[in-house]
Amino acid sequence: MSSPNPSLRSFNTLGLDIAADAIVLADTSEAILHAWQTSQQTQKPFLLLGEGSNVLFLENFAGTVVINRIKGVEISEQHESWHLHVGAGENWHQLVKTTLQKGLPGLENLALIPGLVGSAPIQNIGAYGVELKDVCEYVDVLHLNDGRTERLHRDDCQFSYRDSIFKHQYQHGYAIVALGLKLSKQWQPVLTYGELARLNPATVTAHEIFDTVCQMRQSKLPDPRLTGNVGSFFKNPLVSTEKADGLLLHWPAIPRYPQHSGEVKLAAGWLIDQCQLKGHRIGGAAVHRQQALVLINEDNATPQDIVALAHYVRQCVGEKFGVWLEPEVRFIGAQGERNAVEVIS
Ligand code: FAD
Ligand code: EPU
Repeated sequence: MSSPNPSLRSFNTLGLDIAADAIVLADTSEAILHAWQTSQQTQKPFLLLGEGSNVLFLENFAGTVVINRIKGVEISEQHESWHLHVGAGENWHQLVKTTLQKGLPGLENLALIPGLVGSAPIQNIGAYGVELKDVCEYVDVLHLNDGRTERLHRDDCQFSYRDSIFKHQYQHGYAIVALGLKLSKQWQPVLTYGELARLNPATVTAHEIFDTVCQMRQSKLPDPRLTGNVGSFFKNPLVSTEKADGLLLHWPAIPRYPQHSGEVKLAAGWLIDQCQLKGHRIGGAAVHRQQALVLINEDNATPQDIVALAHYVRQCVGEKFGVWLEPEVRFIGAQGERNAVEVIS
C-alpha cells in the first residue's frame, strides 16, 4: 500500500510534520525486499521504521519509508524456560502484557516502552534494571541484498548499553524480521531500581512490578499521544573513574552508577537539571519539566527547534561539567541517517 508524498506525522512520536516520497506498510519479508529493490532501482533512499519513537526527522525524507508490520507470536515450552518467536512488527508493550496475562513473567520491568519488537534489539532497550539482552535468545535478520535470512544468537549481537551490532556492522542493508525471547521458569524479580527497591522480594509478583513500573514511568515521562517526545533524548554518559571522582568533589550529590567495564555512568537528566534547564524553550521545543532528559514538542516545534534546543542543552552541560552528551535518538536527513553529534555540535 502506498500513496504520493504522504506525511510521517503519525509515524514519529515527536509528531513532526515531515513528508516522505512514499510510505509502504510491509507485513512480510517479501514486501520489505520488494520495497528495497524498487528503491535500489530508482536510486532513492530507503528507511525502515517501527513506531518512530527513537527518530528525529531533520527534513522531508527523499525516498521510501517502510513501516514494519510483520506480525505473529509463537510460544513454546521447554523444561526450564518458555520460548517466544515474535514478528518484528508486534508492539513491544502489548507483548509484555500478553506474556504476563499468559503467566510468563520476565518482561515486566520493560513495560510501557514505546516501539516495535523488531526495534528492541537495535539499542538493546532497557529500563528499571533489565535490558533486552537479558531475555533475548536470537534476532532474525533479512539480508536485503540477497534475500537471505540469518539468525544471530544473543552472543553475536554485541549488546551493550543502548548499543548493538545493529547500529554498526548490521546497520545498512539489513531488516530485523523476528525476535526470539527466552523466559526462565525460575523467575527472579529485579528490584534494584528506584521505587522497585521498596517491594518485598519474597512476596512480589510480576504484575506488581509491571504496575509499579507503569506508575513510575507515567509520573515523569510524557505520553507521546499527548505531547510529542522520543523518551530520553541523550544517552547517559559513561566516564572514567577519575573523571567521576573529580566531579564528585564539586558536586557531592551527583548520581553515579559504576559499571562492570570500570567506567562510571552518570545521569544526563541530573546534569541537565543542574543547568536549570527544565522548561527551557526554543521555538516550539522545550525541556520537559518532570524529566530534564526528555525534549518535547510543546507547540508545533520544527526539526530546527529541536536541534537548536539539543545543541543548547549539550553546550550548557559540556561547559559546566566537561561532559559532552550524545543523542540516543537517531537523526534522519533527506537521504538517510546523519551523525547526530555532528548535527548538534
Ligand atoms: P523507530 O524509532 O521506528 O526506529 C529506530 C531505529 O531503528 C531507526 O534508525 C530505524 O531505521 C531502525 N529500525 C526500525 N525497525 C527496524 C527493523 N525492523 N530492522 C532494522 N532497523 C530498523 N528506550 C529504552 O531503551 N528504554 C526506555 O525506557 C525508553 N522509554 C521511552 C519512553 C518514551 C515516552 C519514548 C517516546 C521512547 C522511549 N524509548 C526507550 C525509546 C524507544 O521506545 C526505543 O528505542 C524503541 O525500541 C524504538 O522502537 P521504534 O519501533 O519506535 O523504532
Ligand atoms: N534526575 C534529576 N533530574 C531530572 C531527571 C533525572 O535529578 O530531571 C536524576 C534522578 O533523580 C535520578 C537520576 O537522575 O537520580 C536518573 O533518573 P531516572 O531514574 O529518571 O532515569 P534516567 O537515567 O533519566 C534512564 C533511561 C530511561 C529508562 C530509565 C529507567 C537512558 C538514556 N535513559 O533514564 O530510558 O526508562 O532510566 O530505567 O538510559 C529512554 O531510553 O528513552 C528512556 C526513557
